[in-house]
Amino acid sequence: MERTVATKTYKLAVIPGDGTGPEVTAEGMKVLQAAASKFGFRLDPRQYDFGGERYLATGEVLPESAAEEMRAHDAIFLGAIGHPKVRPGILEKGILLRLRFELDQYINLRPVKLFPGVETPLAGKKPEHIDYVVVRENTGGLYTGVGGISMKGTPQEVAIQSMVYSRFQVERCLRYAFDCVRRRHTPDAPWKGLKDADRHAGKIGQLTLCGKTNVLTYVYDLWERAFYEIAAEYPDVKTDYCHVDATCMWMVKNPEWFDVIVTGNMFGDIITDLGAMTQGGMGIAAGGNINPAGVSMFEPIGGSAPKYTGMGVINPLAAICSGAMLLRELGEVGAADAIEEAVAVVTGTKLKSMAAGRMGYSTSQVGDLVAGQLA
Ligand code: IPM
Ligand code: MN
Repeated sequence: MERTVATKTYKLAVIPGDGTGPEVTAEGMKVLQAAASKFGFRLDPRQYDFGGERYLATGEVLPESAAEEMRAHDAIFLGAIGHPKVRPGILEKGILLRLRFELDQYINLRPVKLFPGVETPLAGKKPEHIDYVVVRENTGGLYTGVGGISMKGTPQEVAIQSMVYSRFQVERCLRYAFDCVRRRHTPDAPWKGLKDADRHAGKIGQLTLCGKTNVLTYVYDLWERAFYEIAAEYPDVKTDYCHVDATCMWMVKNPEWFDVIVTGNMFGDIITDLGAMTQGGMGIAAGGNINPAGVSMFEPIGGSAPKYTGMGVINPLAAICSGAMLLRELGEVGAADAIEEAVAVVTGTKLKSMAAGRMGYSTSQVGDLVAGQLA
C-alpha cells in the first residue's frame, strides 16, 4: 500500500529590515533552505518591508495588523532595525520592541559561544572556555516604559524611568532559565556540542542569577527570592549569584565559570554586548526573542551597520546562527546542529576574521561556504 507523507512546512515571516539587514538575511535564508532540503522539511518564507525606508516613505512605523500577521507564521527571521536618517528610538521602539512586547517574546536567548578559529580579545581563552548562554528577560524592567518627564526644558526638569517587574514575569523567566540548564545537560541534550561535562570546569548544570541585590533592593530582592524558591524544584541544577558588575568582570576573566546566566532586561542587554565581543564580535553573535508558547523572532544581535550597506562585506554568520536557533525552536534539532557544525568548519578552516571587510570572502561567499558545507 502506498502512502504519501506530507512534507512538514514552516511558514516564516522574513523582515530583512535596514542597512545590512537584507544582505545577512539573504545568506541566512540561503543556509536555512539548504538545511531544509537536506533534512526533509520545507520553508515557506514571506517578506515584510518593516524598517526605516518604509517609515521614511509612508510615515508609518509598523502597520496595526503587524503582530496579528506575524502570529500566522511559525517563526520570524529578522535582519536588523535602525536607520541613520531616523531619530534613535523610533524604529527600535516602534518595530523591534513592539513586536517583542505584542508577541510576548519574554525571553531573549543569547548564546555566548566561541567558534573554532575565531579570535577573542580574551587572552588565552579557547572555545572550551567561552560557551554559555544568557537568558535575558525581554519584556519588562526598564523597558516597560513606565515613567515620564516633567518641567521639560527647565532647570527643574525631572525624568523618571522605572524598573518594573511582576512576580509573574520574573518567575516565568527563571523557570525558562532552569529548564534551559537541563536542556543543555541531559544526555540527549539538543544543545549538541554544549553537553561535554568537562567543559565548564565542574560547574556543569549551573544557573547564575545576575542582579544587583546590594542596590536595587526591591527589584532584585524579588528576583533573588523567586530564584531560590524555584531552585528547590530543580535540585539537579546548581545555583549561583553574581552582581551585574562582577558578572562583567568574570565574563572577561573566567568565562568558563558560566553555564547559563539569567538576568533582567537592561542588564541582559548590556552584558550580551560584552559577551558578543568575547566570542568574536557582532559578526557572529546570534539571538532569539522567544515566546515558548507562541511565535518567536530570531535576529543577529548587532545592528544594521549602515556604513557597510550594499558592499557585500558584512559577516552573515550571526544571521546564519540565528537561523540555526530558529530551527532548534521549531524542533528541527538535527538541522540546527548541522548548521552550527557547518559554521564551525567555516570559522575553523576558512574565514580570516569575523570583522566586516576582513573575512577574506564576501558576504554571499560566506553564505555559500556554509551552505556548501551542509550539503
Ligand atoms: C538589542 C538592542 C535593542 C535592545 C535596542 C535596539 C532596542 O540593543 O536587541 O539588544 O535594547 O533590546
Ligand atoms: Mn542591545
